[in-house]
Amino acid sequence: MSKNIESTLVENRIFKPSKEFSKKARIGSMAQYQKMWKESVEKPEKFFAREAAELCWQKKWTKVLDWKCPYAKWFVGGKLNVSENCLDRHLDGPRKTKAAIIWEGEPGEKRVLTYQQLHREVCRFANVLKRNGAKKGTRVIIYMPMVPEAAVAMLACARIGAMHSVIFGGFSAESIKDRALDSGATIIVTADGGYRRGAVVALKKNVDDALKAKDTSVKRVIVFKRTGQDVHIEEGRDVWWHRELEYVDANCPAVALDSETPLFILYTSGSTGKPKGILHTTGGYLLHAYMTCKYVFDLRDEDVYWCTADVGWVTGHSYMVYGPLAMGATSLMYEGAPNWPENDRFWNIIEEYGVSVFYTAPTAIRAFMKWGDQWVKKHDLSSLRLLGTVGEPINPEAWMWYHRVIGGSRCPIVDTWWQTETGGHMITPIPGAIPTKPGTATLPFFGVDAAVVDDNGKELGANQGGKLVIRKPWPSMLRGIWGDKARYKETYWSEFKGYYLAGDGARRDKDGYIWIVGRIDDVLNVAGHRLGTAEVESALVSHPSVAEAAVVGKPDELKGQAVVCFVTVKTGKIANKELAADLKKHVRTVIGPVATPDEIRFTDALPKTRSGKIMRRLLKQVAAGEIIKGDTTTLEDLSVLAKLATAED
Ligand code: WTA
Repeated sequence: MSKNIESTLVENRIFKPSKEFSKKARIGSMAQYQKMWKESVEKPEKFFAREAAELCWQKKWTKVLDWKCPYAKWFVGGKLNVSENCLDRHLDGPRKTKAAIIWEGEPGEKRVLTYQQLHREVCRFANVLKRNGAKKGTRVIIYMPMVPEAAVAMLACARIGAMHSVIFGGFSAESIKDRALDSGATIIVTADGGYRRGAVVALKKNVDDALKAKDTSVKRVIVFKRTGQDVHIEEGRDVWWHRELEYVDANCPAVALDSETPLFILYTSGSTGKPKGILHTTGGYLLHAYMTCKYVFDLRDEDVYWCTADVGWVTGHSYMVYGPLAMGATSLMYEGAPNWPENDRFWNIIEEYGVSVFYTAPTAIRAFMKWGDQWVKKHDLSSLRLLGTVGEPINPEAWMWYHRVIGGSRCPIVDTWWQTETGGHMITPIPGAIPTKPGTATLPFFGVDAAVVDDNGKELGANQGGKLVIRKPWPSMLRGIWGDKARYKETYWSEFKGYYLAGDGARRDKDGYIWIVGRIDDVLNVAGHRLGTAEVESALVSHPSVAEAAVVGKPDELKGQAVVCFVTVKTGKIANKELAADLKKHVRTVIGPVATPDEIRFTDALPKTRSGKIMRRLLKQVAAGEIIKGDTTTLEDLSVLAKLATAED
């Protein structure tokens, strides 16, 4: 059977929600979803006012939406506090002693923080932040391992109106420095180290290196003791988290904040060398995180919910911390790698804690598939009732495996499409209502007016490929790029008037289901992590031997995309294996392990058009092996290919 026919067959498989699931779900039928969706886009103010009433407001809003494209204000005049919504309001009833966070460290330690305990820790740490100069609007960088204190630090910022900017532990000292400079952060919260695949990640050392040149505005570093390894403590700058706690009490009222108060900045890759500081604010963001946990995960008090994302990514923000805690749910957090000490760590955790809702990435699912069913079969996963995926398109084969082997053919799968910029799920099945098909994120969430358009902004018909846009503002949309108004307008709002440009290609099938094809800009998706080709290129050319570099993605069975770098060296420099290894190391130092190139390929010249533009399409084909390649450690004469390509055009 040819591949095409096979994938059509797979695509046509439809999985209807079971009667049993639908009966218990908040939204139990397609008709109910459609009615609600219609109201949410036709009368968004009415719809979202009703939903927002479920949050706790210190002052009610006067206007639901103020939209002057591309600037949105949601719940104008309203005041609330995110940490109060995630903590205080659960303390009046039985949730007080319920587990808010269940944590397992990679070496095996276990901790449970009840809502009351988490509230107390957040209040104390908020006082520590205040003691160290944090105020409303202060930027606080959080560079932490996956320990409950990462969530404590985020919620403590939210409590006093400080803004956090969490940086994933896989980023380097230089990346921390760039983000500190860009955000104007004055405080960094970090840890001595963290555990990952049996090794210790030297987090504090990276922070020290980032601050070495003393050119950032960082005045204070608060260090949580996680591993107990030796670290440098700089007098006058660094303080220990546990020591600071000795000076504070647990009394810290949640400040009433305007609904549009900035909550966090999260840096993500775009199509230039400089990451964008995506800005999210308070009321709209929290509402969307809350609502999606309610309708998409359909979270219940008795659920044990586990999102495997790192807190350094937006998924960790919305779906490990803010959304589930706003729902009063139990959120599980695991520090380390899925294959430590063995390939069944995740299944072990699911069995031990009775995880019922599990949210992970396709790249992880493909790795599990490769490791084999035997690791799964060793464990009882019958507690699971709902599965989710995020981060990249899921191939139908991985979807089917997830459904069958992990979900025991009984759990609905929510394939959630969204972005750092969107704050929460945008296109996703509602599990009790929308039948799923392997490989599609299905239909838009409430308030989301998604469309697939051609280059003129005209909506396309069934199965025609185009660009994905959102035609109406939604509560958790980004409010801007930190410090760069022009880039915000240019990147998202300039191609089609009044439409948000997602940067993804997509098509809608005859049922209106949206199939995401992947990025259409120069952004790669490597193991579910966003990476700008320009970022890697600028890291490469900062190496003394490199004259020019072009970075493209190549299809990769496990990671989705692999990073392939075409490099020309400066005259007199020798392109050899040693240099290739050194360049990989260099990129790790400049950006972080997260950006490690998979292949370095030397070429005497990059293929360019007559006007001097690098022919990326050609390079992609070369990288994918569609054009015969030579030995990758010797020079490739790509200019010849370029000439051939132009001749063909
Ligand atoms: C991709 C992660 C297909 C997409 C929450 C998007 C997906 C980018 C899906 C955002 C999905 C995310 N199906 N593609 N379910 N989810 N993507 O900002 O290309 O790290 O634009 O946010 O990931 O990545 P980001």
